Amino acid sequence: EIPSLAEMFKGYFKIGVAIPFKVLINPVEAKMVVKHFNSITSENEMKPESLQPREGEFDFSKADAYVKFAEENGLVVRGHTLVWHSQTPNWFFVDKDGKPASKELLLKRLENHIKTVVGRYKGRVYAWDVVNEAIDEAQPDGFRRSKWFEILGPEYIEKAFIWAHEADPNAKLFYNDYNTEIPAKREFIYKLVKSLKEKGVPIHGVGLQCHINISWPEIEEIENTIKLFSTIPGIEIHITELDMSVYTQAGEEYKTLPRDVAVRQGYRYRKLFDMLKKYKNVVTNVTFWGLKDDYSWLNQRGRFNYPLLFDKDYQAKLAYWALVSPNVLP
Ligand code: G3I
Repeated sequence: EIPSLAEMFKGYFKIGVAIPFKVLINPVEAKMVVKHFNSITSENEMKPESLQPREGEFDFSKADAYVKFAEENGLVVRGHTLVWHSQTPNWFFVDKDGKPASKELLLKRLENHIKTVVGRYKGRVYAWDVVNEAIDEAQPDGFRRSKWFEILGPEYIEKAFIWAHEADPNAKLFYNDYNTEIPAKREFIYKLVKSLKEKGVPIHGVGLQCHINISWPEIEEIENTIKLFSTIPGIEIHITELDMSVYTQAGEEYKTLPRDVAVRQGYRYRKLFDMLKKYKNVVTNVTFWGLKDDYSWLNQRGRFNYPLLFDKDYQAKLAYWALVSPNVLP
């Protein structure tokens, strides 16, 4: 039997995985999750469109199954996600006449969604991605022009944290985003989180999604982001959606993973984890966005990608061995 990933990084951080529901009900895959990981995230099943497809009609059937699975197997759950511009039904944003919802109406709906969801899993979901991807560095003020922002202005962000905290005072509450290595975006996120903290808004961490590729960004830039965010007192960091595309441009495609690319990927995963281990006091969870290559969201428009640690046939890749066994890389 090959070594458990979670076991390898014990003493550093939790190792998590995002999984679709089909993994939970596949005995081989469920066993693999329990062996290698000690944290799980539902890839889509706790998003607003899944939990409240129509106003007031909550469907917790799948979300409940994740939480139960975690409890039965001694894992923790990262809840993903409460407030996002995507995978959120349009009914949130319109009134009964189909006109844009008023501020009051949208706030009421936001409060109800957050309190119902977080309240249901009180004490059982250890961390929530409360607000996802609210920063857009192309805007002069840094705020993404989502419907949330357009109707409510930036204060929807603090409201979301306050309501989540009311519903579960012990849950760790995160702001989560991608491309956090781009200096302009990193600065906007830093300013946002720092000002929330200074106002006394209950926020406990920043999630760095870390959808990286084989050459971008430099590991040093990820480190710079960790260094900057860890200067904010009371903030911890989770790597929330880690994967490493083997492509850097649209036209590239490998029908199978070439050995030299697999080796590069292995070295790069190793370098990333060696860096992360230095920050074990602030980086407390590292979650992969997928169990095996064929389940990755990066497989799009017929092009297969190889971003994870296990291949489609359940084999541990060189990327896995680079993390668990120091001498495998040539
Ligand atoms: O559930 C429907 C199904 O009924 C339908 O038949 C099928 C046909 O397309 O689509 C299914 O929905 C898909 C859903 O995943 C569930 O599989 C959507 O089309 C597809 O767009 C959706 O993609 C998800 C994506 O978020 C949507 O934004 C990915 O699985 C998921 O990995 C991805 O995750 C996001 C994080 O939440 C936030 N950060 C970025 C990350 C990657 O995009």
